[in-house]
Amino acid sequence: MVQAVLAIDQGTTNSKAALVTAGGDLLATGSAPVGLSTPHPGWVEQDPENLWQSVLHAISTATSFEGGRVEVVGIALSTQRESVVGWNRSGEPVGPVLGWQDVRTAEWCAQLPSYVDDLVRRRTGLRVDAMFSAPKMRWLLDRSDAYVGTVDAWLIHRLTGCQEHLTEAGNASRTLLYDTVALDWSPELLEAFDIPRAALPDVRPSNAGFGVTKDVPGLADGIPIVAVLADSHAAMYGQGCTQAGTAKATYGTGSSVMTPIAGFEPSGCTLAWLTDRPMYALEGNIVSSGAALAWTANLLGLPDVGALTTLAATVESAEDVVLVPAFAGLGAPHWDREARAALTGMSSSTTRAHIARAAVDAVAHQICDITDTIPGTLSSLRADGGATVSGLLMQTQADLLGHPVEAADVPEISALGVAELAWTTLGETTDWAGKRSFRTFDPGIDAGDRDRRRAEWAQAVASVRVRPA
Ligand code: G3P
Repeated sequence: MVQAVLAIDQGTTNSKAALVTAGGDLLATGSAPVGLSTPHPGWVEQDPENLWQSVLHAISTATSFEGGRVEVVGIALSTQRESVVGWNRSGEPVGPVLGWQDVRTAEWCAQLPSYVDDLVRRRTGLRVDAMFSAPKMRWLLDRSDAYVGTVDAWLIHRLTGCQEHLTEAGNASRTLLYDTVALDWSPELLEAFDIPRAALPDVRPSNAGFGVTKDVPGLADGIPIVAVLADSHAAMYGQGCTQAGTAKATYGTGSSVMTPIAGFEPSGCTLAWLTDRPMYALEGNIVSSGAALAWTANLLGLPDVGALTTLAATVESAEDVVLVPAFAGLGAPHWDREARAALTGMSSSTTRAHIARAAVDAVAHQICDITDTIPGTLSSLRADGGATVSGLLMQTQADLLGHPVEAADVPEISALGVAELAWTTLGETTDWAGKRSFRTFDPGIDAGDRDRRRAEWAQAVASVRVRPA
């Protein structure tokens, strides 16, 4: 009998499951899509039951594959962040999952008094924005007397047969309600957002244990939920980014760039995980990266992002065409949610391929805008997420960054990250990132060319801004 941790990675578009050995080997994987709907502009919803069913489906595929030969010794859970679920005393959802991309509360956020933003910065290291959980929780609580929590809390509740109402500290740090220095819900922030403490789950360190399985189809009762991490944080753990000068970029629908820091900072700071001590990280969130590639592929009548990058690779450069993908405003470091997208610099010789290339450039430029704000010297950037399969994107990233980019050779980096934390907690010695191979991309352009392209991008970004920089 082989022992394995069952790692679950619940993301915006898919739920994945993987059986992972103590040596970091993937024995089996499963995946199931999660539906997403946009009933009004700016509203992004998922169905909590559908999300749970997708997790069960992924678990069933992963566990049936190795049928009988594997003993699941623990569960490791990684989840999409900021999205909020509400459920009643019997464990039934009271409304849709309000997704992290949902900005229905933007106006409500804008009318909050300025002291709330100051307080949020001082206590959480974040800023008031409709992406985070607290305004979404307020919206749900305005309509129903419910428990509210992030997706980790919802899944812990279901995995434990509705016995536990718990959340993990790194996920809590994305709600705008958690004091990341005191390491508990902040009474001042709960009051500022009018969220009753009783509606929220208790917060636990990332590897403190989150109850045991009960009544989960396909799983035995009593399996401990050993470790929980937010997905982007799990990628940072899995990439082994724990030393100053290292950073990781996750290329998803949006992007997240994280670099570890020694202590809390009141600007762009996140609690990556909490074990025997807190691990803080500077983080920048990009609203549209993979989404910008998908939008451009659709605009150009291409079947998918793969076809877009293939078309982009047929030209040497975008020839001064710049796409600023501010479809839902600009995220870090610009934070101008009223800005709108632009395609600039076209001439009569511009082709579809130049526009495709500009979309690839835009993803890489946005990452550089964040890495430019990281203090000290960045030795390399570790990349993960779906879009890293594009060699063109990774090479463009290295060119514009001026540093090597190391792309993970496994797509399941969040699942592996949280599985590694679980195995460490179970007493195993792990250094999976040290053993993993990467595809390395070295910069291939000179500093003058890089500066020119970065300046061209900066000018295009300035032209779409609504709020002053
Ligand atoms: O902050 C949102 C992020 O956690 C979503 O991740 O992988 O579902 O795009 P993903």
